[in-house]
Amino acid sequence: MSSGPSSGGPGRSRPFGLGLVGSGVIATTYAAALEGLDGARLVAVTDVDAAAGEPFAAAHGLAYDRDLDKLLGREEVDVVCVCVPSGLHAEIGLAAARAGKHLVVEKPIDVTREAARELIAGAAAAGVSLNVISQQRYNPGVRRARALLEEEALGRVVVVSTSVPWYRSQAYYDSAAWRGTWSLDGGGAFMNQGVHYADLLCWLFGPPQVSAASCATLAHDIEVEDVALALLRFDGGAVGMLEASTTAYPGGAVVLRVNGTRGSLVLEDGALVRLDIEGQEPVLAPPEYGALVMPAGHRAQLSDILSAIGDGRPPPVSGEDGYRALALVLDLYRSAGWGPVR
Ligand SMILES: NC(=O)c1ccc[n+]([C@@H]2O[C@H](COP(=O)([O-])OP(=O)(O)OC[C@H]3O[C@@H](n4cnc5c(N)ncnc54)[C@H](O)[C@@H]3O)[C@@H](O)[C@H]2O)c1
Repeated sequence: MSSGPSSGGPGRSRPFGLGLVGSGVIATTYAAALEGLDGARLVAVTDVDAAAGEPFAAAHGLAYDRDLDKLLGREEVDVVCVCVPSGLHAEIGLAAARAGKHLVVEKPIDVTREAARELIAGAAAAGVSLNVISQQRYNPGVRRARALLEEEALGRVVVVSTSVPWYRSQAYYDSAAWRGTWSLDGGGAFMNQGVHYADLLCWLFGPPQVSAASCATLAHDIEVEDVALALLRFDGGAVGMLEASTTAYPGGAVVLRVNGTRGSLVLEDGALVRLDIEGQEPVLAPPEYGALVMPAGHRAQLSDILSAIGDGRPPPVSGEDGYRALALVLDLYRSAGWGPVR
């Protein structure tokens, strides 16, 4: 990961211009993440809801484009950030790719395999960089865990246990019509919240097989699940568990515990909080392997993405990576017999 995007790619004489599609909750994170980021300039925003887009543009000193086409027609926009409801990611991303814009797509990449595949193919055909957000990968604790796993410092991994005990009120689901729907949210605790950790599991251990899963809607008036649990089996034989909820009042830390034959580690909200390796003193919460607080994760990933585009490197988190995380979530639903078959 580098500290700032390259503006010195072949022939680059100005910062990357970024355009936002969608001006809701996550767009605010982008505005904060990009503020003062070397080599990046937020230019314009579009939103179908002018009552959301206009004040957002005014607050951040951006142009407000009523139409997507207007934003896509801007020569100074090099990169389009897709910050709309999840089930619209591929549609918007494809339009931007066809206009020759590089893409930053929020998680999940979309909510069906078919839409994700179309987006990946469309970006490749247009020759643009397709990046999917997974800001958890940028936590120093998570990166340390990955390095330790690559070194096989824990021996053979035998158990991987992940718990995402979050809380979302009914007011959260009621705050936008797309939330908690199959068509646009694509799912609940597994798809919207758990997908962060589905991606981490794939990145750290390779995509697991789903042995069993169970979902339910217990405490919200929504179509999708608010509690979910899955049993996993990784290449190499380790067993795993992914549990996610949006009903666990008041919400707790995400715990990812890895047990191996020669050591164990625990991540809490992306910070390494405990490392035990055979024959060594336990390491407790080393400050250099903590977690990034929003918007720092987005800032780190956006910086890395722009550096990669400037240097002609592949996307740090690619469309295929986004597809793998989505496919794992859809496999969980399939195993649980939950929701539409996708
Ligand atoms: N990485 C993260 O930690 C994180 C956190 C929150 C949300 N997200 C993702 O960001 C996406 C948006 O979530 P949000 O919470 O910001 O939603 P939101 O409802 O707050 O904002 C979405 C905005 O998109 C606009 N919009 C809808 N359709 C549009 C279209 N066709 N063209 C232009 N604008 C359109 C809406 O009017 C709204 O203002 C989701 O995919 C979500 O999963 C990611």
